[in-house]
Amino acid sequence: MGVIDFHSHILPGIDDGSRNVETSIGMLRMCKEHGVDTMIATPHFYADSNTVERFIDSRQKAYDKVMAENMDIPQIIMGAEVAFFAGISRAEKTDALKVEGTDIMLLEMPFVTWSDSVVQEVRDLIEKRHFHIILAHIERFLQIPGNKPYVRQILELPVTVQVNAETLLDFRQKGKMLKMFKKGQAHIIGSDCHGMHHRVPNLWLGREVLEKKLGHEFLENMDSYGTKLLKEHQIHP
Ligand SMILES: [Fe+2]
Repeated sequence: MGVIDFHSHILPGIDDGSRNVETSIGMLRMCKEHGVDTMIATPHFYADSNTVERFIDSRQKAYDKVMAENMDIPQIIMGAEVAFFAGISRAEKTDALKVEGTDIMLLEMPFVTWSDSVVQEVRDLIEKRHFHIILAHIERFLQIPGNKPYVRQILELPVTVQVNAETLLDFRQKGKMLKMFKKGQAHIIGSDCHGMHHRVPNLWLGREVLEKKLGHEFLENMDSYGTKLLKEHQIHP
């Protein structure tokens, strides 16, 4: 699977990401040209405004439109960026929101100070529902006042921690992120790309920073971590 972008909004017309097929193809070709082998397509899923059935249906249609163009693009694996909601650990339908063929879920945590019950629900998703959780862009939640103790508790769980490539390009945040990668508190990056003009594909720019600061071997290890993650969490029917 090589170079994997674990977080992207490249499917057209399904969320605030790519608006149309042309944009999606433009984004995907750009990724291909910059050496991205695999894109996990992770449109936003919000339980308060969507149903799992409707989401899966529109995601499939968006995917089919992209594939009909028959272009030389990275492999697309379908997933979702699931926004946390109270009761998520008991909502059985969320099974369908895992990364295709795996038990992995990209989870977007709440943008307000977390609580014991939030931490407990994530624990239940792991222990009771046997999800493997990827925490989307952890950096955003470190900045929420009063959130550090909860972040600490979540990082103690067996989760994969994803950082946006963009954050590694921000001189105010870069140092902290590099430290987290070094300590093994962050594991993978994603572009979280949304379009061709705004929040553009940039995985390779983040990779350049990691390579420059932490070395080529680090990057190789990150790539094998990603490949292994997808392999080890495959669901065998
Ligand atoms: Fe996202």
